Amino acid sequence: MSATPQPRPVDSGSRRPVTLPDIAAMRERKEPIVMVTAYDFPTAQVAESAGVDIVLVGDSAAMTVLGYESTVPVTVDELLVLCKATRRGLRTPLLIGDLPFGSYERSNDQAIETAMRFVKEAGCDGVKIEGGERSAERARAMIAAGIPVMGHVGLTPQTATALGGFRAQGRTAGAARRLLEDALAIQAAGCFSIVFEAMPAAVAALVMEHMHVAIIGIGAGRSTDGQVLVLNDLLGIHSAFQPKFVKRFADVRGEMLKGVNAFTEEVRARAFPGPEHEYGVDQEELKRFREWTSPLVSRLSQ
Ligand code: KIV
Repeated sequence: MSATPQPRPVDSGSRRPVTLPDIAAMRERKEPIVMVTAYDFPTAQVAESAGVDIVLVGDSAAMTVLGYESTVPVTVDELLVLCKATRRGLRTPLLIGDLPFGSYERSNDQAIETAMRFVKEAGCDGVKIEGGERSAERARAMIAAGIPVMGHVGLTPQTATALGGFRAQGRTAGAARRLLEDALAIQAAGCFSIVFEAMPAAVAALVMEHMHVAIIGIGAGRSTDGQVLVLNDLLGIHSAFQPKFVKRFADVRGEMLKGVNAFTEEVRARAFPGPEHEYGVDQEELKRFREWTSPLVSRLSQ
């Protein structure tokens, strides 16, 4: 057992918790909105310290932290564990929980019930669902039940197979029109914000002319009101395939590997632990202990 004390949530100074009107006001002021994913207590603390505006516990956790091959298999219970841990590390950013595939599509009641769990059990400020027209009724129902909803159009990983795989959307006039219709439908449902994922920058810019809620882009160019990246992508935590829109701002995997390699080498070379990592003991106590163990050792070895 480590004697390291439990880390405490960082002090975010005088910043107050971000609210939905704050997000709308940032959009009005044309102040870029910063969103990242986070999946646990330490990554939430990093997002808090960095002063991001919105934290999403994305179902990307299925692939980035749980090792699934896609986002499809992850369950509500698995994501709730991650949302609760993230909540404990956050004070100021708005916390959004991603509703996983199969947890909201069936009926409005199912969507409300699932979303309520994210709000009541995990302390999320709102939820995100994928899809435009096909999800508008669910979004409307959850919003009517008092739950803030973020939409997600363009490349929607939960249904990527139907979209022809993980590829940019809206690259023909017809596809761009469907994208606009999806964005309009989910906006009309009352979403406070919408993620635009993987689409030509010029198409996103044209769709933006019809948007009046905060649009957060990921692979949608510069015209959106904010940007989001998956934390593990931007930090370089894995060595897996990276979509074109990802920029690596750090090499955390490289640093982690360096650390674990150095630990492995030092243990094998008996260079760790050093005297500075050892606990001392009073010499008199040690002597008494030795005297007590000597007859015991000789008895045991007979
Ligand atoms: O699950 C996720 O991380 C997401 C972001 C890419 C927006 O949906």
